[in-house]
Amino acid sequence: MQNPVTVIQSVRLDDENDTLVLLDQTVLPNETNFLELKEMEDIWDAIYQLKVRGAPAIGIAAAYGAYLGAKKSTAETYEALFADFKKVKDYLATSRPTAVNLFWALNRMEDRFKQEAGKSVAEVKAALKEESEAIRAEDEKICEAIGEHALSLLEPGWGLLTHCNAGTIATAKYGTALAPIYLGQEKGYDFKVYADETRPLLQGARLTAWELQQAGVDVTLICDNMASIVMKEGKIQAVLVGCDRVAANGDAANKIGTSGVAILAKHYNIPFYVCAPLSTIDLECQTGDDIHIELRPSEEITTKWYEQSMAPEGVQTYNPAFDVTDHSLITGIVTEKGIAYAPYTESLSEMFKK
Ligand code: MRU
Repeated sequence: MQNPVTVIQSVRLDDENDTLVLLDQTVLPNETNFLELKEMEDIWDAIYQLKVRGAPAIGIAAAYGAYLGAKKSTAETYEALFADFKKVKDYLATSRPTAVNLFWALNRMEDRFKQEAGKSVAEVKAALKEESEAIRAEDEKICEAIGEHALSLLEPGWGLLTHCNAGTIATAKYGTALAPIYLGQEKGYDFKVYADETRPLLQGARLTAWELQQAGVDVTLICDNMASIVMKEGKIQAVLVGCDRVAANGDAANKIGTSGVAILAKHYNIPFYVCAPLSTIDLECQTGDDIHIELRPSEEITTKWYEQSMAPEGVQTYNPAFDVTDHSLITGIVTEKGIAYAPYTESLSEMFKK
């Protein structure tokens, strides 16, 4: 039977109408609404507001945005088109700082542009379209491969804990951390999945619980502060999370709260796996200290989701959107090329040679 969730295209190019089509992830699970965006400011805002979110999906959206921006240009020479493209690229790159896929995808688009040197404006535009579509299509295959490798680490009937949403809507298809769950479901693995709600933006409650429920996976929603008790009660045999940027030494930035889950998993002797495509691995960051952590507005903590403010007016807040899990807490990093184990400085760079 067709999985009703993995067929959803959360990011799509409607080239005929010069439009980027996005599943609005801010209104799920109550509304399934697709946005049709033409203006660069709207694409930037959709990334910043998390209407499109999840590292691979952000990269795909940015690649389509860069193509649409170039397509719109009235430049008549290669050089003039490049200047317009660069403006769009640099602008989109300011939308969010942590997920390296955003920069990876935009740089890949620029590399392709440069490969077309000497070609006509129409040819360059066609090449950019091809590149953005390739980024999307490759991500689908990459996620499937991550899912297969991760599934080899799991056993039927296991209880799995995940944090945030690294599912199909965060990627082209399948997701990263949720990919083995979907692939396992096809094989009758019967996993019992615990989804952390993921304060403050509730990606676990609104997106992961929704995705898995729609797909018919046995999913139980818990508050973030319940991860310890479900581990202690023996309900969890492995933790699977996605990632926004992995440093060369294996330190991994993911949604705020992830590192706490990893510390708990270590305490309870539960394997903790990070699932990430090579496009999320940034060998230029030596350690997690080099990763730029996004800070977001106070309202996400104090008022959002509430009928009235749940904090005294004017209270200081600190709202980092990500944290870094130390490599020593990570059992393995699952990529499309295989599973990297410590020492990560060696195993991750080896992955790029495969
Ligand atoms: O702020 P978000 O919702 O974009 O954060 C997303 C995550 O932390 C995901 O785990 C990560 O991007 C991997 S998505 C396959």
